[in-house]
Amino acid sequence: MTSPLSVIILAAGKGTRMQSAKPKVLQTLAGKSLLGHVLDTCHQLTVDDTIIVYGFGGEQVQDHIAHQYAHLPITWVAQTEQLGTGHAVKVTLSELPKDGQSLILYGDVPLVSCQTLATLQAANTDGMSMLTLTVNNPFGLGRIKRDQAGNIEAIVEQKDATSDEQQIQEINSGIYCVDNALLHKFLPKLSNDNAQQEYYLTDIVKMAVADGITIAAIEPEHTFEIEGVNNRQQLASLERTWQGKLVADLQEAGVQFADPTRVDIRGTLSAGQDVFVDVGVVFEGNCTLGDNVYIEAGCIIKNAQIGNACHIKPYCVIDKATVGAGVDIGPFAHLRPETILSDNSKVGNFVEIKKSTIGHGSKVNHLSYIGDATIGTGVNVGAGVITCNYDGVNKSQTIIEDNAFIGSNSSLVAPVTIGDTATVAAGSVITKDVDANALAFGRARQTQKDDFQRPTKK
Ligand code: UD1
Ligand code: CA
Repeated sequence: MTSPLSVIILAAGKGTRMQSAKPKVLQTLAGKSLLGHVLDTCHQLTVDDTIIVYGFGGEQVQDHIAHQYAHLPITWVAQTEQLGTGHAVKVTLSELPKDGQSLILYGDVPLVSCQTLATLQAANTDGMSMLTLTVNNPFGLGRIKRDQAGNIEAIVEQKDATSDEQQIQEINSGIYCVDNALLHKFLPKLSNDNAQQEYYLTDIVKMAVADGITIAAIEPEHTFEIEGVNNRQQLASLERTWQGKLVADLQEAGVQFADPTRVDIRGTLSAGQDVFVDVGVVFEGNCTLGDNVYIEAGCIIKNAQIGNACHIKPYCVIDKATVGAGVDIGPFAHLRPETILSDNSKVGNFVEIKKSTIGHGSKVNHLSYIGDATIGTGVNVGAGVITCNYDGVNKSQTIIEDNAFIGSNSSLVAPVTIGDTATVAAGSVITKDVDANALAFGRARQTQKDDFQRPTKK
């Protein structure tokens, strides 16, 4: 049995270089806060306690978590003065269980993977494991000192390193898994007798070694997993790296991107084979695409399920919609939440659909608003048809039964039902139910004046 796991997330930093009113950990990457990434990742493991150390903008951070992560019980610990990473973890001791182990993570290091954390946790067999990496340019980072036998003996910070130590290329990521008993034992003993006069968390390494503990080191699979964000350039560059990774995974699964650098995935996207995604497409939230889906330029697709062989033409906005197989959408269509398009239906240009179901093979091809409606199979909705679903106070339903035909530029004033195989004449304002197989007119009869003389200029 593995011992209980706590997660300690350091999130006290202001992030001065972001030049923002928001605390750094609330900046977003791929549409999610930096802190949110860390929380989502570590909660794929079995976590018993989550402790967040907050400082600058603590109220904003707590509000954000209360709104978006209400399901996670969080223990909040304030660090009013930032006296160093060691101090930041030390302030959690009053809340930290005596037993078990802790993952120490950072609110501004968003992309560490769950797999890496699980490996790090498994590597902690003797009290402490850490994530290190050998890099070409170690400048600014803590260096890993190893003894003759190759065992870790200490970490030296850049500012305290001798010129020999500065040559070391193995760096400290700052991410560790440590037995809580050791944190309780070592942290109260930290001193700030160093170049930065900070309480260094890294000093617990030499304390552990002095206690005869062998420290395990593992490397992350990807460098970006340990990259932190300190300014907007780093944030933008980490965003691109992350997008590149998401796109590469999808390419491996058989998705073709017209340009892998001109697509954004802000959430999770799963896709079948032979999907094509043109430039400028943005996916948000959880999206699923079937096989052979073809998405043209500039579409925004959010929390949507798109069935096999759908064709989404340029510049569609799709939000919380469920789309069956073989559906054609757009160009310039807007599907709003709770839209369901059944197999082989068609939604054409400048059509807005909200909270409505469009039946199998039905068509709404041009310039329509369909809201709070249920449309059966084989229905044709002519150009410019509007469901008048709102009287200024209440929303009402429109029902259009199978095989009905709604003439162009008709207004269907809800609540109203158009019966099976009924026809509505073009330009009608329909305020009463139409029976099955009937033809309904709801417009002034056409009149004519013969030999009409146009006015002439005075
Ligand atoms: C730290 C490590 C260094 C490692 C590097 C990786 C120490 C002493 N050094 O250095 O070995 O290579 O991370 O990036 O740990 N924080 C607080 N409260 C504090 C101090 C820091 O919450 O009092 C948070 C910061 O907001 C930041 C993180 O901890 O997110 C790292 O702190 P920082 O002072 O930047 O450490 P580094 O100098 O990067
Ligand atoms: Ca740092």
